[in-house]
Amino acid sequence: MQLENGKILHSDNVFKAHSVKFIDAISDGIELLDQPEKLRKVLNELGAMHEQKRIPVTGFPVFGNAFFATIKEILGNQCSIELVNFFSLF
Ligand code: HEM
Repeated sequence: MQLENGKILHSDNVFKAHSVKFIDAISDGIELLDQPEKLRKVLNELGAMHEQKRIPVTGFPVFGNAFFATIKEILGNQCSIELVNFFSLF
């Protein structure tokens, strides 16, 4: 995908660095599923950090849809209806 500034998205260093941070954050979140208070604190801090960076709220569904499309492609016919329903909540 080509960006407005002519860069190719998946070769962009900022995008690549964020992709690693994103996956780490998802992994940390999964680890904390049985500690909801701690998870809430971590997510609130992450949300505040994005707000400080002035990331527009409209970016999150775009990001979420791209993430789910990738998961669906990887899982193929193993993508369950429960998973589809889960992602449709957002
Ligand atoms: C659920 C979705 C997202 C997660 C889990 C996530 C996760 C993260 C994490 C873990 C960091 C590093 C925090 C730190 O260093 O303390 C970060 C930084 C950042 N995120 Fe996100 N992010 C998400 C969505 C987005 C979106 C949609 C954008 C913009 C379109 C964005 C832009 C940024 C920027 C600009 C930074 C700071 C630069 C950097 O550290 O690479 N993030 N994000």
